[in-house]
Amino acid sequence: MIGSDPAELPYPSGWFAVAADDELLADRPVRCRLAGADYVAFRDARGEPAVVSAHCPHLGAHMGYGGCVREGTLECPFHGFRFDRNGACVATGYGTKPPPAARLVSLPTHRSGGWLFAWYHPSGRPPSWTPPVLDAAGWSPLQRHLSVLRTHPQETTENSVDLGHFPFVHGYRDVQLRALEVDGPRLHTRYSFTRPSGFPGWARDIRVDIAVFVWGLGFSYVDANVEGLGLSLRHFVLPTALGDGQTALRLGVALRKSEGSRRGLGWLPRAVVDHLIAPATMRHYRADVMQDREIWENKRHIRRPLLADGDGPVGRYRKWCRQFYASGEGDGAEAGPPPEPAS
Ligand code: FES
Ligand SMILES: [Fe+2]
Repeated sequence: MIGSDPAELPYPSGWFAVAADDELLADRPVRCRLAGADYVAFRDARGEPAVVSAHCPHLGAHMGYGGCVREGTLECPFHGFRFDRNGACVATGYGTKPPPAARLVSLPTHRSGGWLFAWYHPSGRPPSWTPPVLDAAGWSPLQRHLSVLRTHPQETTENSVDLGHFPFVHGYRDVQLRALEVDGPRLHTRYSFTRPSGFPGWARDIRVDIAVFVWGLGFSYVDANVEGLGLSLRHFVLPTALGDGQTALRLGVALRKSEGSRRGLGWLPRAVVDHLIAPATMRHYRADVMQDREIWENKRHIRRPLLADGDGPVGRYRKWCRQFYASGEGDGAEAGPPPEPAS
């Protein structure tokens, strides 16, 4: 059948990155967009993150423009109404009683690996699963990159299982699938391939073992092991559907020295790993991912792809994806209604 525009795939449920942890400021909300709606993120008085709808229910100001965080509450710039992390209006700017119905939508939040995630469900259901909390301790400071692409999280995440595209788009050789496990919202795959190194001072081709951990369509991390390198690599791939066919693709890279390794680059001082090798790895990783950009932005979504030996487990991936759509079938289903935050 003729494919549909990937941008028309419905918004999937799941956890989606809305900011990096350290982008949340003490005194100002951060604007974010998820599944066709505007939100702001801020920290309450205990430092806990909150993601709430951006528009004030009083007279509609967007609190990401001029709003501030005061005593752990979000204050609207228009008339000073204040909201707590659950979205309840706790004060007007006049010292009068807040209208009881004045409330913001508040999304469940989750922090992992230096990122802030918000839960989205098209019917507003609470989270039915939570991804693991990844500890940033021991890893180099997170290197980050954000691109906005005309695609959909299901399309970008499909890369993890589309082994057939690796030689053509990325120039990887001898790609071998080692494992695929599917368990509820978690998909795990392992594969290996040969590629040019790209590490400074490490010119030869390298054999890379990849373990991909996918939690829903918005949260993937990839642990890469390069024989003899002496460093462990962690990559994040975090696509968030913004609306209007756009997806924010957040990439992250963190490195750490392999246990007790003096081999490869493992002898380098920590500062060199953090400030030279990690940024170089990020640039290289970003260039790799952006090799897919033209294809993602111009492809059609084929609901029933004509798969062939050599593809990798794309069919199993597509079946796994269905659980993230209200209809149970995300593949080529019509666009979901633009999800207004319920109020
Ligand atoms: S519009 Fe927000 S306080 Fe009036
Ligand atoms: Fe790719």
